[in-house]
Amino acid sequence: MCGIIGYVGRRAALPIMMDGLRRLEYRGYDSSGVALVKPEKVTVIKSAGRLSVLEGGLDYDTNLETQGIGHTRWATHGAPTDINAHPHTDSSGKIAIIHNGIIENNRALRTYLEQKGVTFQSDTDTEVLAQLIGQLYDGDLEQAVRLALREVSGTYGIAVVCADEPDLIIAARKGSPLIVGVGQGEHILASDAAAILAHTTQVVYISDNEMARITPDNLRITTLEAIPVAKETEEIEWSLDQIELAGYEHFMLKEIYEQPESLENCLSGRIDLAEGMVHLGGLADCARELARAKRIIVTGCGTAWHAGLVGEYLFEELLRVPTETEYASEFRYRNPVIDDGTIVIAVSQSGETADTQAAIREAKQRGALVLGVVNVVGSTIPRETDAGVYLHVGPEIGVASTKAFTGQVTVLALIASYLGRRKHLSPTAAAQFIKALSEIPDQIRATLQHASTAKQVAQQYANRENWLYLGRGYNYPVALEGALKLKEISYIHAEGLPAAEMKHGPIALITDGMPVVCIATSGTQYNKILSNMSEVRARGGSVIAIATEGDRDIQDVADHVLYVPDTIEPLQPLLTVIPLQLIAYHAAVMRGCNVDKPRNLAKSVTVE
Ligand code: AGP
Repeated sequence: MCGIIGYVGRRAALPIMMDGLRRLEYRGYDSSGVALVKPEKVTVIKSAGRLSVLEGGLDYDTNLETQGIGHTRWATHGAPTDINAHPHTDSSGKIAIIHNGIIENNRALRTYLEQKGVTFQSDTDTEVLAQLIGQLYDGDLEQAVRLALREVSGTYGIAVVCADEPDLIIAARKGSPLIVGVGQGEHILASDAAAILAHTTQVVYISDNEMARITPDNLRITTLEAIPVAKETEEIEWSLDQIELAGYEHFMLKEIYEQPESLENCLSGRIDLAEGMVHLGGLADCARELARAKRIIVTGCGTAWHAGLVGEYLFEELLRVPTETEYASEFRYRNPVIDDGTIVIAVSQSGETADTQAAIREAKQRGALVLGVVNVVGSTIPRETDAGVYLHVGPEIGVASTKAFTGQVTVLALIASYLGRRKHLSPTAAAQFIKALSEIPDQIRATLQHASTAKQVAQQYANRENWLYLGRGYNYPVALEGALKLKEISYIHAEGLPAAEMKHGPIALITDGMPVVCIATSGTQYNKILSNMSEVRARGGSVIAIATEGDRDIQDVADHVLYVPDTIEPLQPLLTVIPLQLIAYHAAVMRGCNVDKPRNLAKSVTVE
């Protein structure tokens, strides 16, 4: 969604901010802008469309200001126009603000300000905040922002500058991430570490309900009530090359190929093959409580929800604890039953998804112990949960989640095994499970060797507008994930189904040559899915099978076969998803789609 960058220091702010905004592009946006500050004057340049449009209106030779704020906007209030792009100013033009989030009481505030004679330029909730700060400004920007925020309900990550107080950025956060990069005689404010990494790995995380007063040499954090907050400077563990393309055409492809390594990182230090044990430091303090859980609710959105569904199967099998997977957006509003002994596991790559955050709050309010399974260190969800396990798969830039999915499934498998050993899982069974898990990275490497088959399949069917994905058991969530991947980046309509459900309606869709992807790896339901494949073929559908290496029989009922190595059923999703990611990627490329920045989508959905 929207992206924030701000700079105060001794270097020219504009190139630093534009580089930062480029690195935030992956979050999704439809307009952008910058405000440059010098004494007595704030210059705002903004435009609808891609960053290249904004770039066309910039002059790097003359705009040498050493302070500024920049923004990529994903429209919520008001269309993506030049006027509605951020930054917004107050009527004096001296105060400028950029804002991520939604000011929920913006209408009431707008009416109040209009009654006081303020004229608005844009349709945005952000301009309301700019005008409110302007009304309250009395020579002290920090105080004006503080007073304004007391009147506001909703979510925000904001950065505010004022021509009368150069070399100062005031930032504040409630529900929308902000971090401050600490450099030599400079500070860089951003909504995402990716925008800062080229300059420093030393950062301070701003928490909810905190404000930051940022000058070149000083960073002071206070609560909204002006109580000072002591903050540690932390080291970002990501490196710059992880957020660059490194020769790949797209981040999605790079991230698909990173999976062997990203899962090695995820497993590193967590499995003890000799002892058949899993070590999860993040759960150590509540392990006993977790092992006593009578019910588990896994929650998340999109791909994270699909990973959660694999988790549901894993927990019921390894822990014998009733588990449900719930869309966070439904859970948060539907009066869920949370008994004593219910634990909630929130799964999220970004750690910032608004619905997942709200589900966590709801669960905590009802007394549940809440765990986070999150990739981005220092994001909101790990701060709001009682305990958790990081994915450690590195930054995911492509909007289509790939390595986060396999990381999420891997962490859920680790948790299942960790708690399983405290319950019903025998040492032998646990050791076998962990050994199989440790082999997955190499098995993904082997799967990627067959990438050309996935490309051929994608090329052959990229012009078909409707696809079906069928799976059973552990591969049912993979069918959902494969369909989601295809629709979000290639704009092809695709449906994922439990294979048996096809006969209850969707089979009517099958026409001549319709691609039907069937995940038919070895296991308890192998013969069942072969029957489903025959049913598809009998109706003229083209069967694209994902099968276990060595299975030649499947070629009799499939038009194409993509092979994956053999593993135990609970871990098959980690392999079967790989060809589906590749098919989606190549289909999108064939159709000329913007793979890393699909239309209408944002990497991290921070609004409802
Ligand atoms: C998947 O490819 C998506 N882009 C999307 O479904 C994503 O998984 C979802 O929005 C949840 O995001 P999170 O993991 O950051 O919470």
